[in-house]
Amino acid sequence: MAVIKIKEGVYFVGANHWDRRLFDELIPLPDGTSYNAYLVVGKEKIALIDTVDPQTKQQLFDNLKELDVKKIDYVISNHAEQDHSGVIPDVLEKYPEAKVVTNEKCKVMLMDLLLIPEEKFIVIKEKDVLDLGGKTLEFYMIPWVHWPETMATYLKEDKILFPCDMFGSHIATSDIFDEEHFYIPAKRYYAEIMSPFRNNVRNNLEKIKKLDIEIIAPSHGYIYKEPQKIISAYEDWSSENVKNKVIIAYVSMHGSTQKMAEYLREEIIKRGIKVDFFNLTVTDTGVLAMSLIDAATLVIAAPTTLTGIHPKAAYVLYLANLLRIKTKFLSIISSYGWAEKTLDVVKSLVPNVKAEIVYPVITKGYPKEKDFKELEKLADEILAKHKSLNLV
Ligand code: FEO
Repeated sequence: MAVIKIKEGVYFVGANHWDRRLFDELIPLPDGTSYNAYLVVGKEKIALIDTVDPQTKQQLFDNLKELDVKKIDYVISNHAEQDHSGVIPDVLEKYPEAKVVTNEKCKVMLMDLLLIPEEKFIVIKEKDVLDLGGKTLEFYMIPWVHWPETMATYLKEDKILFPCDMFGSHIATSDIFDEEHFYIPAKRYYAEIMSPFRNNVRNNLEKIKKLDIEIIAPSHGYIYKEPQKIISAYEDWSSENVKNKVIIAYVSMHGSTQKMAEYLREEIIKRGIKVDFFNLTVTDTGVLAMSLIDAATLVIAAPTTLTGIHPKAAYVLYLANLLRIKTKFLSIISSYGWAEKTLDVVKSLVPNVKAEIVYPVITKGYPKEKDFKELEKLADEILAKHKSLNLV
């Protein structure tokens, strides 16, 4: 993507990755992504804030050429993950006078990951400043958004915060200021990247809110000229609040579990509760992760497979455990042929999830009249639980 001027002496020089479809070989990217690097030009010194993923490095160098950048004094590394740091060695090769400015933890990671020699670093601490001449960069540690070393750079004169991953969104776009459409991409990104660290997100939000910010310029996706929009969204998503919503995530081999899942779905809807219904054979895990941000209840519907739970359901439970979902209630509906171990297996897969188990319904073979009655009782139990949290 071409250079975009953000303010006088402040430029987007990053890259769009339009056709990337997976991040970390795990996270679906239906809209691609971007790696937002920024150039800050002071009267005496020039700083590059983060770089780009190595697959898109030519875009960064094309942008530096377009701005006729003859020297770079500092490369600010807010985060060691390679989608932002991976081109630092190339920048140091092209601009050998440049120093890498970062915190001690990030320095060690960059030495490990990219073999950057220690003498190339300037190590900074919380609230240290770097004077570029009329442009002052100030550093704030914001750990665990996304790794332990993550930090934000604040450009004091222009009131711009560069928080790297925090507030990002995985989207390749020609309109980086498109705040009208920010919500879903930003929520999806939060769900996939930030949600396991919601306590840290809350702490970092408190720190950031003390700054006078006019623009938030993350290192993925949209730039915010109305920062309160994304800050408010993060406050909501990272809170412990849940909504009057049930996720039913199902997989069915011969139709028995599907019949139960569909019956339960309708019973829950009748009780005035929203349902997000996922067929796990075709589910985009990013959409499921978004739903998990605020659902009060998760129902896993999966048959016994051999002596355990169907692996598609086990994957969702493993993911829910990694994401440390804040879901308050968990239930299981299942059909089995000869061995029944589902409930024990489910419990063993989610040690980090503090949800209360609610009225599992497990049938032998195709569901019968008594099983449908049991599913109605489960729907009643879920309604009662939601009422206990004043969600209904
Ligand atoms: Fe965008 Fe954690 O890297």
